Amino acid sequence: MKLDPRIVALKADVTQWRRDLHENPELMFDVHRTADVVAKRLREFGCDEVVTGVGRSGVVGVLHGRNGPGGKVVGLRADMDALPIFEETNLPHRSKVEGKMHACGHDGHTAMLLGAARHMAATREFDGTVVFVFQPAEEGGAGGKAMVDDGLMERFGISEIYGMHNLPGLTPGHFSTRPGPIMAATDQFFITIEGRGGHAAKPHEGIDPVLVGAHIITALQSIASRMVDPLESVVVSTTMVEAGTATNIIPSRVKLAGTVRTLKPEIRDLAEERLGQLVKGVAAGFGAQASVTYERGYPPTINHVAETRHAVDVARAIAGDAHVDPEAAAMMGAEDFSYMLEARPGAFIFIGNGNSAGLHHPAYDFNDEIIPVGMQYWTDLVTARTMA
Ligand code: NI
Repeated sequence: MKLDPRIVALKADVTQWRRDLHENPELMFDVHRTADVVAKRLREFGCDEVVTGVGRSGVVGVLHGRNGPGGKVVGLRADMDALPIFEETNLPHRSKVEGKMHACGHDGHTAMLLGAARHMAATREFDGTVVFVFQPAEEGGAGGKAMVDDGLMERFGISEIYGMHNLPGLTPGHFSTRPGPIMAATDQFFITIEGRGGHAAKPHEGIDPVLVGAHIITALQSIASRMVDPLESVVVSTTMVEAGTATNIIPSRVKLAGTVRTLKPEIRDLAEERLGQLVKGVAAGFGAQASVTYERGYPPTINHVAETRHAVDVARAIAGDAHVDPEAAAMMGAEDFSYMLEARPGAFIFIGNGNSAGLHHPAYDFNDEIIPVGMQYWTDLVTARTMA
């Protein structure tokens, strides 16, 4: 691991910041304490501009390189929000807020980017400008979209943008990424099947929506197995079924709901279309009626090819060629950095968190040992990109 001793020297401070954030988790857009801490520190470091309230509660820090304004503007993004989970650890820095927890390591992401900002502000060993982006509401609130919609890219002149997330199961400080789709689109569907209820002993007098629902659940599996190219990725999971009140009554209505995950916009369109057709068609075949509400969530996170190569080069120079996977498998989870990658070229990379509990698990904790590695990655990326 090639680390600048000046960065390693900041590790203790940054670890303290990380643990303070861990003790004080906040949800969605209500990250006011966190945003205050971030803005205060960015000002202390000597950022040339610090703007709060971007995308409701996001914070942006602007830092010019050694030659002042001008040149390339590189955006670096961290997320600030926690999750509604009861922490199940006995760590000295465990959450002080019952039912809220930094179980996805966003405390670590925020601390690492702050640490990098402190180092870069003190050294300014780059040209152009770096824009530190701290977003709210990554966990389902589309805070990344809120910041983009609030003019993030235009207001700060960002020309390319990068994101980083820790990954349990990957060796601490190792990296993995891939060009193209790396995280999935997450959509939800809600189906209501209207039949005709009645006595369970006289099914022929009604239209049984439970049977219709069972056929629909089964038919939806044919989207992945029969309608989408087997070399493409799609997940359709029906996860909620609501029906009936007694064993001797056929209900008149059944509700189903679930999620659709895809990696490409065209597969996403296809899955949505086929889901609607199947639901209506299957219901009609039984003489029932069905309606579908299809809600699109985060789009797929799609890494740009050239920027991914830059990210891999920087990561390799730090961790060594063998410890950076440039062609990792995509994941069917989602990430709202996707909105930023729709707006500007850039790349999302994973940094190993080691043998910790999984993301969103009540026993998860961010691995402070990787703090200097993440700081080094951000610093070197800015140097490489602004001096390219
Ligand atoms: Ni996360």
